[in-house]
Amino acid sequence: VHHRRPSTVSGVFPEHRPRRLRGTPALRRLVSETTLRPRHLVLPMFVAEGNTEPRAISSMPGVVQHTRDSLRKAAVAAVQAGVGGLMLFGVPRVHDAHGSGATDPDGVLNSALRDLRAEVGDDTVLMADTCLDEFTDHGHCGVLDARGNVDNDATLSRYAEMAVAQADAGAHVLGPSGMMDGQVGAIREALDEARRTDVGILAYSAKYASAFYGPFREAVDSQLSGDRKSYQQDPGNAREALREIELDIAEGADAVMIKPAMSYLDVLSDAAELSSVPVAAYQVSGEYAMIEAAVANGWLERERTVLESLTALRRAGADMVLTYWAADAAGWLD
Ligand code: PBG
Repeated sequence: VHHRRPSTVSGVFPEHRPRRLRGTPALRRLVSETTLRPRHLVLPMFVAEGNTEPRAISSMPGVVQHTRDSLRKAAVAAVQAGVGGLMLFGVPRVHDAHGSGATDPDGVLNSALRDLRAEVGDDTVLMADTCLDEFTDHGHCGVLDARGNVDNDATLSRYAEMAVAQADAGAHVLGPSGMMDGQVGAIREALDEARRTDVGILAYSAKYASAFYGPFREAVDSQLSGDRKSYQQDPGNAREALREIELDIAEGADAVMIKPAMSYLDVLSDAAELSSVPVAAYQVSGEYAMIEAAVANGWLERERTVLESLTALRRAGADMVLTYWAADAAGWLD
């Protein structure tokens, strides 16, 4: 019997037809590799001291500096939408050389943590930024030495103090984001000494000195002039990120993070392979601003673009994603 197969113009008939699995929504659903659920998303939130109204952040349309009251309401809404966690940043009214507001139990961040823990209890994972830059008058993530350089080891004792204050205020997980050497170990030791072995550390292990943090500086009224290149990583370096991750895990990190996200997918993918603890990606302020700006111009569709960007981070290996769209995306996913 002579079988004749229909031939294409070129005479080569495709034996392999990957499109077969794309033909219907049901087929696509069946073979989908990557899941994106509300529980994977963590919402970063800002709370500013002395605000009587939520204040818009012009470079991050839709994101605000909350009052203590509006923060509580927004947190409840996010939890109801099913987000996996909240990451809290504080914006104090007064800044000083040592970032005193960071360790003050009545400081803006610690007060807000207490409010949120009372409001949402254990229904979500309450996280706190454990870093001094929002609180210092020079805007650096640590304290400075006599020559004006960031003093690594003096900063560690400030972080240790800050960590215990945040644990006392009700944080479940601390997010040291200052990129000081030994910060995870110092915080872990302080928590252990304070008998707070229940508090987790999500280490910002591979945090790059990135231009994509631009809008965040507006969000926290940053006092920084200059840059963070002496402590955050060079965007060209990948191996260094793996070393930072190994060190943080050895020092007691419960999870590690790569930041920013979309421009560092290779690092994220390597981290996911190497890490023995969960891996997070932080889709930062500039990533948010870029998409929102394009959406505002009618150049991109918000929902599709955001969900695609988040799916890409999950595909690259992120167990969880910090994103300013966490609550919105959780709603779209439902
Ligand atoms: C430092 C910190 C920054 C961000 C999170 N934690 C700013 C920086 O390192 O300059 C950036 C987050 C973002 O851009 O969304 N505490």
